[in-house]
Amino acid sequence: MTYQVILPAAGQGKRMGAGKNKLLLELNGVPVLIHTLRVFAGDKACSGIILAIHPQDEMEFIALLKRYNITKVISLVPGGKERQDSIYQALKTVKTDGVILVHDAARPFIRKEHIHRLAETAVKTGAAIIGVPAKDTMKKVQDSVVMETVERSSLWAVQTPQAFRISILREAYEKAERDKFLGTDDSSLVERLDHPVTIVEGDYDNIKLTTPEDLYFAEAIMKKREKGFY
Ligand code: CTP
Ligand code: MG
Repeated sequence: MTYQVILPAAGQGKRMGAGKNKLLLELNGVPVLIHTLRVFAGDKACSGIILAIHPQDEMEFIALLKRYNITKVISLVPGGKERQDSIYQALKTVKTDGVILVHDAARPFIRKEHIHRLAETAVKTGAAIIGVPAKDTMKKVQDSVVMETVERSSLWAVQTPQAFRISILREAYEKAERDKFLGTDDSSLVERLDHPVTIVEGDYDNIKLTTPEDLYFAEAIMKKREKGFY
């Protein structure tokens, strides 16, 4: 099994408030972008990385790829206004078939074993996503009033990577464009094709660095892993 991966990295990191793309922030002296890239660069099953970038970051990103000797990036694609636009631009450059993963560059803690389980599932079913069972009690709220308590056992917090047969993801993006549908993940576009999506259980370490406190969690995860804990 081999796969290609699209890494959307063209955001601005507004919620992180670092005054620059949060992917340039360092964990243990290495930029978040490089931590994520290393996972895929070091995976034999990954045949190529397509990186969606903001034009303002181009020079700096190219310099980092060189400095850290990341050679698996097959193309740098200018991103768009929304994450979905960035991924669509990247997807348009893919001409082959097979399986493609989409993974937020802001999730550096993804494990190779989960990537493989996900990609293998997508080979069989056409669409697979990674997530974890919800831990908190979940309620539906409207105007600060609880409407209902949602049955937790059926709720999952969904992460990336998400993996698809390329033809299915392409069709989903074309339909979303026609319908002007903007989703918060890739799966929601595929779900609109009525194509079943399989969920694969990942782990709670696979956080997306979004707000400043996530950097504390990230450091704790790094420390845990350095000590050899799973
Ligand atoms: N992303 C992208 N193109 C965009 C917006 C986001 O490629 N137009 C990427 C980000 O770089 C990130 C991933 O999508 O790796 C997830 O997005 P998010 O966590 O929202 O990152 P940002 O958009 O950078 O952050 P914010 O929303 O706080 O500005
Ligand atoms: Mg964003």
